[in-house]
Amino acid sequence: MPKLAGQRPEYIVEALKAYRSGARRHPSMQANAAALTDQDIADLAAYLSAAK
Ligand code: HEM
Repeated sequence: MPKLAGQRPEYIVEALKAYRSGARRHPSMQANAAALTDQDIADLAAYLSAAK
């Protein structure tokens, strides 16, 4: 699994939206992202980018 801590928030948002829409394909991540709202994605990106 890729390291996400410290990643730019914009990058995490784009990746999760791409999994959610199916534009980026990976079974476990598409399953994870399917239920996320835009607010969930923004919150996760803020949390992960601030983590070390
Ligand atoms: C809150 C939970 C999770 C979040 C926010 C999350 C987020 C992400 C993001 C943003 C990426 C893209 C990384 C990149 O482009 O460098 C990613 C990739 C990936 N994640 Fe997750 N993830 C989560 C849970 C999981 C779980 C539970 C699994 C395994 C069952 C998993 C397996 C993977 C794998 C294998 C990739 C690489 C897939 C690919 O190459 O497209 N993730 N994840």
